[in-house]
Amino acid sequence: MSSSLDGKQLWGSRFSKTLDKNVNDFNSSLPFDNILYKYDIKGSIAHASMLADQGIISFEEKEKIVSALNEILSEIETGKIEFNFEFEDIHSFVEKLLIEKIGDTGKKVHTSRSRNDQVALDVRLYLKDEIKKIQKLLISFVEILLEISNEHITTIMPGYTHLQRAQAITFGHHIGAYIEMFKRDIERLNDLYKRVNILPLGAGALAGTPHYIDRYKTAKYLNFDNVALNSIDAVSDRDFVIEAISTISIIMMHLSRMSEEIILFASFEYKFIELDDAYSTGSSIMPQKKNPDIAELTRGKTGRVYGDLMTILTVMKSLPLAYNKDMQEDKEPLFDAINTVKMCLSIMPSMLKTMKVNKENMLKAVKDGFLNATDAADYLVTKGLPFRDAHNVSGKLVSYCIEKKKTLEDLTLEEYKKESNFFDNDIYDAIKAENSVNSKKSIGGPAFENVKKVNEINKNWLKNIKREINE
Ligand code: ARG
Repeated sequence: MSSSLDGKQLWGSRFSKTLDKNVNDFNSSLPFDNILYKYDIKGSIAHASMLADQGIISFEEKEKIVSALNEILSEIETGKIEFNFEFEDIHSFVEKLLIEKIGDTGKKVHTSRSRNDQVALDVRLYLKDEIKKIQKLLISFVEILLEISNEHITTIMPGYTHLQRAQAITFGHHIGAYIEMFKRDIERLNDLYKRVNILPLGAGALAGTPHYIDRYKTAKYLNFDNVALNSIDAVSDRDFVIEAISTISIIMMHLSRMSEEIILFASFEYKFIELDDAYSTGSSIMPQKKNPDIAELTRGKTGRVYGDLMTILTVMKSLPLAYNKDMQEDKEPLFDAINTVKMCLSIMPSMLKTMKVNKENMLKAVKDGFLNATDAADYLVTKGLPFRDAHNVSGKLVSYCIEKKKTLEDLTLEEYKKESNFFDNDIYDAIKAENSVNSKKSIGGPAFENVKKVNEINKNWLKNIKREINE
């Protein structure tokens, strides 16, 4: 009995019945792995070239295979070929197209190869491209953050711990914290790239191949740094998918923390920033509302990416070696995590670039809440009092101020001296917000000069990493 699925499977000969339509729909990865088509074709071209170099197929056969594969590539790209979801996956689909074009010669491309090493190859090739794309997006983001930081080297704002006003910092310094996070993310992606950049092809189904192949040559054709050294591991390993999604999860976590602060800072309670109209939405009922949806969605999508990570960790956790079909479930979470992070990274930079920073409100918030209590203690330390005692004195002054509804700036020298004789007229300078910020001169601190210096270091860092990534 024939069905529309006849001839769509690469393995039909052992079976007396064709696959049930529902089973095929359940089994097929083509609806989502079709995005791998160009990597599948690229991999097959490299494989066929190596087979010809090794004398396993003839040079003419290789030429025929390569030109047919290139034709298929452009036909997919121009929409002349549409994906037929009756096929099991992108690998079977491309191979069938090849055989349709060049007949028996096309059947030779799968020599010394299995879909198990083929799929591992395709995903690695895809990831190599995507890692670079994400790094480039992160680099542009860091460039914008650097601009913002430089613009706000002298914009004084409260720094928080426990979401309580703690000490004066600058907005430039605060943004600098995110620069460091995203720098680490870029480096983490570099590290991931090293482990993705290993060729699995040649592992066959799990036990290699009896034919005289040269895997180092295939690796060279495909720009891989090295070859996987164990054929079982080569087809079983999805660590690189887990590592990719966890690296992306960390990026999302950073974006989400930033989003959370954008949401808070844009609120009526803080009024530190105002988002541009193009990056805010309104309410269908409350006309006064301006909502930070982009930041909220980024925060929300972080949960989705963590879900992707949990999916692949759980899929892999009890799989015996080597390949199991469960592993087909690696693709949707990986693609989802990659698409999500790219989407967020494409929109966040312009949202930040266009926001208005309300310097007056930031400064106002610094004046209220005894952010200079630590400065008063540090002042006493410079006058010779041990820090613990100095902390005590400053604490008493704060409590006195609260009782008298005063600020530390309001106190007279007599009031200061009542708590400690170490106080002198220069206390008033020491507790000024700007002086407080600028007293934190050691590298990494918020002093204006410091942040300027660090931003210069980071400008150079960017230059170097850009060169490295484009290599
Ligand atoms: N579609 C499969 C996947 O994504 C490809 C490998 C299938 N191999 C097999 N022996 N069934 O994992």
